[in-house]
Amino acid sequence: MQHQREQWGSRAGFLLAAIGSAVGLGNIWRFPYVAYDNGGGAFLLPYLVALLTAGIPLLVLEYAIGHRYHGSPPLAFRRIHRRASVLGWWQVGICVVIAAYYAVIIAWAARYIGFSVSQDWGDDPEAFLLGEFLEVGEPGAITSYVSGVFWPLVAVWAFVLVVLALGVRRGIERANRVFIPLLVVLFLVLVVRALFLDGAALGLDALFSPDWDAITDGSVWVAAYGQIFFSLSVGFGIMITYASHLHRRSDLTGSALVAGFANSSFEILAGIGVFATLGFMAASSGVAVDEVAQSGIGLAFIAFPQIISTLTSGAGLFGVLFFASLVIAGVTSLISIVQVVVSATQDRTGMRRLPAVLTVGGGIALISILIFPTAQGLHYLDVADHFINQYGIVLAAFVVVVVVAWGLRLLPSLRAHANLTSTVRLGGWWQVALGVVTPVMLGWMLWDSLRQEFDQNYAGYSDGFLLAVGWGVAIGAAVLGVLLSLFPWRGRDTFVPAEL
Ligand code: PHE
Ligand code: NA
Repeated sequence: MQHQREQWGSRAGFLLAAIGSAVGLGNIWRFPYVAYDNGGGAFLLPYLVALLTAGIPLLVLEYAIGHRYHGSPPLAFRRIHRRASVLGWWQVGICVVIAAYYAVIIAWAARYIGFSVSQDWGDDPEAFLLGEFLEVGEPGAITSYVSGVFWPLVAVWAFVLVVLALGVRRGIERANRVFIPLLVVLFLVLVVRALFLDGAALGLDALFSPDWDAITDGSVWVAAYGQIFFSLSVGFGIMITYASHLHRRSDLTGSALVAGFANSSFEILAGIGVFATLGFMAASSGVAVDEVAQSGIGLAFIAFPQIISTLTSGAGLFGVLFFASLVIAGVTSLISIVQVVVSATQDRTGMRRLPAVLTVGGGIALISILIFPTAQGLHYLDVADHFINQYGIVLAAFVVVVVVAWGLRLLPSLRAHANLTSTVRLGGWWQVALGVVTPVMLGWMLWDSLRQEFDQNYAGYSDGFLLAVGWGVAIGAAVLGVLLSLFPWRGRDTFVPAEL
């Protein structure tokens, strides 16, 4: 079981990979709308508070666990407590689910790079997306296959598996060293272009004009913490895994601050770019920004194509920049999710990297390729995404934080561990942030979304479909975690955390 862990080539390599994981589709298509919808400029206050009182403290927690216990989530938690490995396996289960559908969105975006050049969507991008491209059918059992999605999806998986097979330093680190600077450049060009569109100011005004009353609204705070948890991808083991490859002497708190603020900066930049563009759309069609503002799939695959078609110059380039940014942001996140599963497999079985990538990485790819490029793919994706976020990630983060802070009372020793090698020293506030603020906000989010779940069916889907697909994946990830933890680890683990 004790194989030599690979290490990052440098601190910058680790940081770029951590930033690459955090910066994903959510930065581009989720943050701008959440901010707009929750008080605009005034949202930045709860958002910053959430970043400092929960986001960065959680990042530090995951870095400290990975660094101190030197393992993927199942191994790290097992080294914390014999029976805690189930928490790590649960996180692995969540990663399997997310990876399977996240890849599909990247595949769509990759296709849209090509579509942008010739504006294949014609004058009805919505009909094109749902009809011609995705061939969406009724929710339920799979009725037919969609080859236009199949091939790009195969390409995405092939690329991700090759990167993982090359290893932490030669694969993951090198990919992020190329992709993150490239993403920043492409995206900056896009944002600057957007700022020169007619109506850009209108959009920025809509995004940033503060509604100060929002600050006294509890749901705005839930939204702020929700965005921070989602955006930093904390709570399901990615950062534990990445930090397990750190050198013994690594600056944990400094890295968490850099990664946290880099992710937020990219989000705010995306807010500017997206709303400048929406302002142009509103102005050119003579409606209020309110009527065109949206997020997610609708923003990227319907609104943006509409906007691109309206541009009189440089339309193709604008589209290429936008969809290439989505692809790059998505791929670096996908790499990090699959690495959790690969690393856990290696830790558990002693398998070498290549067979681990081929079996479990290939297995996830196969599931993804079998289920999602189908007439029902969009429905599965939509429901799986909603449920795994609310009752996978949020619930797992809640349980992990409560167990670590209160069950095992581990915060003081992890704090001492982080302080041994870090530049910014953790004070008592860190324990308050993780022991009190974070579980309270996560608990509130859970309660809030459960209430809505029973209030009305998510997106109008039938009970049966939500039960099978939504609750199915959320509970399935946990069951998978429990099952995986039942196999006893062979041999004795002679590991002792070094420093304390
Ligand atoms: N945090 C990423 C984002 O903001 C999303 C993500 C989800 C990344 C799951 C990794 C895993 O888009
Ligand atoms: Na993010």
